[in-house]
Amino acid sequence: MGWPFLQGKNHNEDQVRAIALPGNEDGDPRFLEQFRALRAKFEYKAETLKLKVVAMTSAIAGEGKTISCANLAINLASSGRKKVLLIDVDLRKSDLAGALHISPLPGLSEYLIGSAAVEGIVRNSVVPGMQVIPGGAKITAPADLLAGERFRGFLAAIRSRFDIVLLDTPPILPVADTLGLRNQVDGFIFVFRAGFTPYTMLKQAVEEIGETNILGVVLNGVEPQSCKYYERYYGKYYREIRKGKETT
Ligand SMILES: Nc1ncnc2c1ncn2[C@@H]1O[C@H](COP(=O)(O)OP(=O)(O)O)[C@@H](O)[C@H]1O
Ligand SMILES: [Mg+2]
Repeated sequence: MGWPFLQGKNHNEDQVRAIALPGNEDGDPRFLEQFRALRAKFEYKAETLKLKVVAMTSAIAGEGKTISCANLAINLASSGRKKVLLIDVDLRKSDLAGALHISPLPGLSEYLIGSAAVEGIVRNSVVPGMQVIPGGAKITAPADLLAGERFRGFLAAIRSRFDIVLLDTPPILPVADTLGLRNQVDGFIFVFRAGFTPYTMLKQAVEEIGETNILGVVLNGVEPQSCKYYERYYGKYYREIRKGKETT
């Protein structure tokens, strides 16, 4: 499992600061730079292995799936090379619409229960080339719907319209929703929040998903200060860039 480290600043930061929407100048450049690295590795892997539909998941809630998925999608679309669809598949706790400032209804839930058509749930975002499907209204038992034929048919139809389809999923251990996606997606990216999730939980979640289905792991929440190598070689560089930016 080789994948870049995502070195977050701290977990109490306002979510807006953690998402690289155009015009967000408040983000930590070291944090946002990690997503460019993630994008490059992801793009290489997706092209080499011919992957299109990829789910971002984790063992438990609060590990950084939503911000990682949104930032990866934004970076992929911003390169101008990829047409990206980002889908909120966490139908119990749909956070993407709020994070990306798009209207939450109707969304995937409405499509799955048959009250909305595809055209009604795909939204444009402020990032050219990136479209988003919000989760929609909360439904209590989404696992069967996500594992079912209607969602399978939907993903099959949407494949030809996008270069990359990213799914922001619920956590694996508390609910069965993500396990039902194993046969629907080309692979999973795991987010592991260091110092927050016990390693045994990561291990259990990896076993449940199946190691061969995992494309890589994003390590979230490693304090830059705790990484001496990183600070020594990149810290000064970024501080200087920031200083330059502030004075121009
Ligand atoms: N590296 C990070 N730096 C700053 N804030 C973070 C970081 N990782 C997660 N957060 C914050 O922690 C909370 C949970 O993240 P989120 O992406 O919603 O997790 P999940 O989708 O896995 O439940 C959010 O408020 C988010 O902004
Ligand atoms: Mg989430």
